[in-house]
Amino acid sequence: MNLQELSRELSLCLARQVPEGLWGSGVGWSLVLCFGVAYACYYLSSIAKKPELVTCSKSFHHFLQDHCPVVTETYYPTVWCWEGRVQTLLRPLITSRPYVQYRNELIKATDGGQISLDWFDNNDSMCYPDSSTRPTILLLPGLTGSSRESYILHMIQQSKELGYRCVVFNYRGTAGENLLTPRTYCASNTEDLEAVIHHIHSLYSSASFMAAGVSMGGMLLVNYLGKVDTKTPLKAAAVFSAGWNVFDSIDSLEKPVNWLLFNYYLTSCLQSSVIRHQEMFGKLCNINLVLKAKSIREFDKQFTSVIFGYSTVDDYYADASPFRRLETVGIPVLCLNSMDDVFSPSHAIPVEMAKKNPNVALVLTSCGGHIGFLEGLWPRKCTYMDRIFKQFVEAVFEHGSKILNM
Ligand SMILES: *[C@@H]1O[C@H](CO)[C@@H](O)[C@H](O)[C@H]1NC(C)=O
Repeated sequence: MNLQELSRELSLCLARQVPEGLWGSGVGWSLVLCFGVAYACYYLSSIAKKPELVTCSKSFHHFLQDHCPVVTETYYPTVWCWEGRVQTLLRPLITSRPYVQYRNELIKATDGGQISLDWFDNNDSMCYPDSSTRPTILLLPGLTGSSRESYILHMIQQSKELGYRCVVFNYRGTAGENLLTPRTYCASNTEDLEAVIHHIHSLYSSASFMAAGVSMGGMLLVNYLGKVDTKTPLKAAAVFSAGWNVFDSIDSLEKPVNWLLFNYYLTSCLQSSVIRHQEMFGKLCNINLVLKAKSIREFDKQFTSVIFGYSTVDDYYADASPFRRLETVGIPVLCLNSMDDVFSPSHAIPVEMAKKNPNVALVLTSCGGHIGFLEGLWPRKCTYMDRIFKQFVEAVFEHGSKILNM
């Protein structure tokens, strides 16, 4: 008997019990039990699944199997909270916020602006007491995010245990620092990221170096990697819940439910950073229209695309879509996406393109939502994404030579 038949059988048994109506005499309990078993069958057959691992490189595949086995294991989403949107909404509320003390550094950008970096030096590292060779991970948060996001704090927690150093790149205007020039950030312009990477590398040129980007941070990272090919000090990169085609992501976020749950809120977060520096932007764009925007697309049309010199918002979205750059990524990159992520619709995941570049591995789960990946009954401490992050960075730093010369 397969699982579907079993659950049908169980619901029939349920139906037979109900008319008796003998709650309290044990029948009620068997009803509950039947429901429980039916749910368990459904969960095990349709929810808990192994992720699909897409890569055309045998050596990358073996490398992941040996050193990052979590990508080949069944992902068991939290039983009471596996649906994509629910995971997306609940993850920031449920997961803990590990305490992290940063050392802030402001660096100068070529346009006269400043970029705020938050360092987690990990000077107590047992494995790497010498700071000049301590492996370093650059972390890129998502849209409107900063070093205070819980997913960033968790990645730092994982890195701390391994003895590594982390640096969080706070996009201009997101970490409370002042803007010195009328410029914020976007997913296509990689100048600030390049400056940050070269700054970190110039400080610790003997330390192994990699980067991990989440959501928009992941898009920015892929856009950078696609431009520089192998001309980067980064050894490898991890990308979580990135949108691959901005047009598809934005269309999905404009569906009424998604607009209500995510789009409207994010738009107001974007606007609040503009309000703080209104005068500075007044000459470049129409602030009234920016503040009237009711969606990310309207905001990008009135603000982001204008600030970064695109003639239309579509030009910006085309340039910001990382699927175009995947072909020329020259270092190993592991990308995790869930098929039920409303920020990154599954039909836009560049599976065929990933099969053409041996540097790329996609890990595709059926559940997990956007930066959700909750697992366990009460998922406070560690998500599936955190475990992939931890195993992958350890794999790269401790065994990386095995994939670097593919
Ligand atoms: C870690 O050590 C370096 C010097 O090796 C120092 O500049 C830095 O401030 C220290 N970080 C913390 C958080 O104490």
